[in-house]
Amino acid sequence: MTLDNKLGLTDSLELAKMEEKISKTRAKELFEEQLLVDKAAGTYATLAFIHGFLFEEIYDFAGQIRTVNLAKGSFRFAPVMYLAASLENIDCMPQQTFDQIIEKYVELNIAHPFREGNGRSMRLWLDHLLKAELEQVIDWSQVDKEDYLLAMERSPIRDTEIKHVLKQALTKDIHNRNLYMKGVDHSYYYEGYSLYKAEEL
Ligand SMILES: Nc1ncnc2c1ncn2[C@@H]1O[C@H](COP(=O)(O)OP(=O)(O)OP(=O)(O)O)[C@@H](O)[C@H]1O
Ligand SMILES: [Mg+2]
Repeated sequence: MTLDNKLGLTDSLELAKMEEKISKTRAKELFEEQLLVDKAAGTYATLAFIHGFLFEEIYDFAGQIRTVNLAKGSFRFAPVMYLAASLENIDCMPQQTFDQIIEKYVELNIAHPFREGNGRSMRLWLDHLLKAELEQVIDWSQVDKEDYLLAMERSPIRDTEIKHVLKQALTKDIHNRNLYMKGVDHSYYYEGYSLYKAEEL
């Protein structure tokens, strides 16, 4: 099953490739035109702006909260019924320290506000937040994809692994576009694509 898309594509791999191309072009624009400088760091509104900007040419749901329940693997993300309330609470979470910021990131992932594209928009959101609060960003090239994914899968139960994985990749090189763009890479490979799509419940 391929997600309904504005490009009229019905093949999942084709869609994944176009999605990657378009969202990366959009991410470059976000960075080069400094479109996030006046946005409040660490808020859902800013995440929705990022998601909308990356995916508006591809999906009707870009920047919009999802309307279906989702699961990945054996994990069920926040039920739609509680999603809006959950996002309001997450907005109020503290974000002064690295640990607090990652705890907020973990909660946001559990909420999983969008039907698709949560990971990529959240990694840009996280860099924006780390930059604003700590003047640091993640060098995503120093984050092993498998380690990241395992740590994220584990994070709803225990967040020490993801804190460790991301902390060792912190850098003060905050104006480097290459580092920023790495965050928009998929956290899995195309071969695993069909296996690693969220399931609608
Ligand atoms: N089993 C799981 N339990 C909790 N979180 C998960 C699980 N599997 C993946 N995730 C998180 O969900 C994100 C993927 O969400 P989604 O597919 O909406 O975003 P994406 O941008 O398409 O993908 P990606 O982050 O893989 O590039 C991953 O980055 C990871 O943080
Ligand atoms: Mg995905």
